[in-house]
Amino acid sequence: MQPRDIALVVIVGLALGLAALFALRKLGPADGSAAESYAHQADKAEALPELWPVPDFSYLDQHGKTVTPQALRGQVWVANFIFTQCRTVCPLLTSKLVQLQRLLAGVDVRFVSVSVDPAHDSPEVLRAYQDKWAPEETRWTLLSTDEKTLAATAAGFKIAAAQSDSGVDPIIHSAVFVLVDGRGVVRGAFSSEDRADFLALVKAAKKLAGQETKQAPALAVDGPSLYHQLSCAGCHERPDLAPPLGGRAGKRQELTNGQLAVFDDAYVTESILTPQVRMVRGYTLLMPAYDALLDEARLKALVDYVMAMPAPPEESAGAARVEADPVCHMKVRVTDSTPTTSFDGGTFFFCAEICREKFLTTPAAFVSSP
Ligand code: HEC
Repeated sequence: MQPRDIALVVIVGLALGLAALFALRKLGPADGSAAESYAHQADKAEALPELWPVPDFSYLDQHGKTVTPQALRGQVWVANFIFTQCRTVCPLLTSKLVQLQRLLAGVDVRFVSVSVDPAHDSPEVLRAYQDKWAPEETRWTLLSTDEKTLAATAAGFKIAAAQSDSGVDPIIHSAVFVLVDGRGVVRGAFSSEDRADFLALVKAAKKLAGQETKQAPALAVDGPSLYHQLSCAGCHERPDLAPPLGGRAGKRQELTNGQLAVFDDAYVTESILTPQVRMVRGYTLLMPAYDALLDEARLKALVDYVMAMPAPPEESAGAARVEADPVCHMKVRVTDSTPTTSFDGGTFFFCAEICREKFLTTPAAFVSSP
């Protein structure tokens, strides 16, 4: 086994361990003090006990402005933990945050995403990340952290964030949302992966913030705007994360169970409402369910739009160049902005800068192994 593969096994093992921990905690009383242990409590939206004060921090946001817990006083906020180069849980987590922003439209809450990758996620990088996922959202603060204080901040939120030596994602971290009240006290930790918990968070945030206060910007009703507002492209325009959706109507798709699915109205509807029922083969990332957000008319508009999406021009011309990243082995669609380097007379392409950097430290190790 390559060291990389071992790291992967460790990560998968850790993820399974965490999942098991979640399952156990669901059954038995919570032990320990990690934020995870407060997830999955019944009637959380009703009780909202005062759990612990948020830790002190002072970080720059995506606009270069200093943000502290004091500056957030008087404001209900939801915190989560991400890093922009992450390709496994973070796109899913961020797409859930985007759903949360839509479900809490018009409610006076702030969304605070704390980066667990201080070396890479500068304010500029976080700004670009916001532009990709929710450019119009004014209540979203993305914090660039620093190496010296990140561990203390994560510990203060009772959140796991640890470095790992993997080619896929270098940082393992928690997938919970933490709800903070206007006095800076944590009032709940909610699993992003559990539907009931996610809906309990919506309810709890409304309760703390005092229901709808502002004129809510309504969720769009037409397909193109819905596709944009729900940030479907955040995953689907990156072939290494999710299957491209353009030009697929009537074609067949291979599923994880070995069967084929025809890309028709019923299949697309099911993919959006209950994506885990039939899954496309070859993707590690999970597609989030959108059933909490879409009424019948909006769902139909979105399905019609996806069915009519044209194939991307390069693909129809047969000119799309897809290469395998020599570090993580993901498929990469080569464009002008694809990270690349030359070595030993060959040209190599990478899914992200992080893989390129890894390659550059020991190129021969990645080239010699097939
Ligand atoms: C967090 C990333 C992510 C987001 C956001 C996302 N998807 Fe997906 N989607 C995936 C992945 C990964 C798959 C393939 C695995 C599977 O089938 O679940 C997928 C599969 C699909 C499929 C089946 C595709 C095929 O080729 O068979 C459809 C249709 C789809 N998504 C539509 C949407 C729509 C519409 C939205 C926005 C409302 C959306 N997705 C948002 C990740 C995402």
